[in-house]
Amino acid sequence: MSYAIEAEGLVKRYGETAALDGIDLRVRTGTVLGVLGPNGAGKTTAVRILATLVAPDAGRALVGGFDVTRQAGKVRELIGLTGQYASVDEKLTGVQNLVLMGRLLGLSRSEARARAAALLSRFGLTDAADRLAGGYSGGMRRRLDLAVSLVSRPRILFLDEPTTGLDPHARGELWDAVRELVADGVTVLLTTQYLEEADQLADDLLVIDAGRTAASGSPGELKSLAGGHRLDVRPLLAADVEKAESILRTRAEGGLLSVPVHDLSVPPALLRALDDAGIVLAEHALRLPSLDDVFRTLTGAEK
Ligand SMILES: Nc1ncnc2c1ncn2[C@@H]1O[C@H](COP(=O)(O)OP(=O)(O)OP(=O)(O)O)[C@@H](O)[C@H]1O
Ligand SMILES: [Mg+2]
Repeated sequence: MSYAIEAEGLVKRYGETAALDGIDLRVRTGTVLGVLGPNGAGKTTAVRILATLVAPDAGRALVGGFDVTRQAGKVRELIGLTGQYASVDEKLTGVQNLVLMGRLLGLSRSEARARAAALLSRFGLTDAADRLAGGYSGGMRRRLDLAVSLVSRPRILFLDEPTTGLDPHARGELWDAVRELVADGVTVLLTTQYLEEADQLADDLLVIDAGRTAASGSPGELKSLAGGHRLDVRPLLAADVEKAESILRTRAEGGLLSVPVHDLSVPPALLRALDDAGIVLAEHALRLPSLDDVFRTLTGAEK
């Protein structure tokens, strides 16, 4: 098995805060690792270390077989990075952004123009090529940002929350672009707060919380961590929510209570207990866990 990215014991401190507190990760060549975690979990810090933008305080990481601290130049030749905050120059047009990057990477003027045209076409931006990037919609800007990071034809790509703030259509388009890259053999490490995104794109997942690994495995493996099934119930009356919370021993979110069910004989008993307490339900359902349930189980809400 060959790994495009391997990291062990990564630690990064900012004053008192341990942004990363001992993270291990591995990404098999040609696959997608999804790094999930709530705000402040350390996702961007991990990406910045692997992309050679900051040095770790401890630990070791190899990207494409090169050490991120001792061989940073070699690593930079192999990677592309799309940051959480778009890095396109708003005062340049789409095509100018791409040509500029090509020139910075040492392409001739004509090579840079050809590469820009190919990427604009690939990301559906040809018609917008001569408009200032500052006037692009959020989705167009993300696509341009991704295109800029692909000018160098990276074999390893880091995407830090690539679809945050995009509408479902724009998100779907970006997912397709990532899938195409992976089909071409590119290895991707992407961070996200969207479980659905991780489920759609990632072969393997790493869930981090407060700088530490909370869980890792395939999406299927993580779902099985959340238990077999879930019982969701919604009391008809808001006044009954608290009573239902104490019967089901869980906290409601938006009036909905959701409990893991390990034994299918349990739901009828729970529903009877609610009924005995005089709680009328607006809805109830037994369903399989989603990655959202896993995330909540692992990162606090159900600890
Ligand atoms: N340059 C910095 N200086 C000081 N503290 C920092 C710096 N960068 C990150 N941190 C802190 O490290 C922790 C991890 O931050 P990081 O940006 O890696 O989280 P994240 O998982 O990317 O969060 P988000 O989902 O909000 O992007 C946070 O507590 C953050 O405040
Ligand atoms: Mg971040």
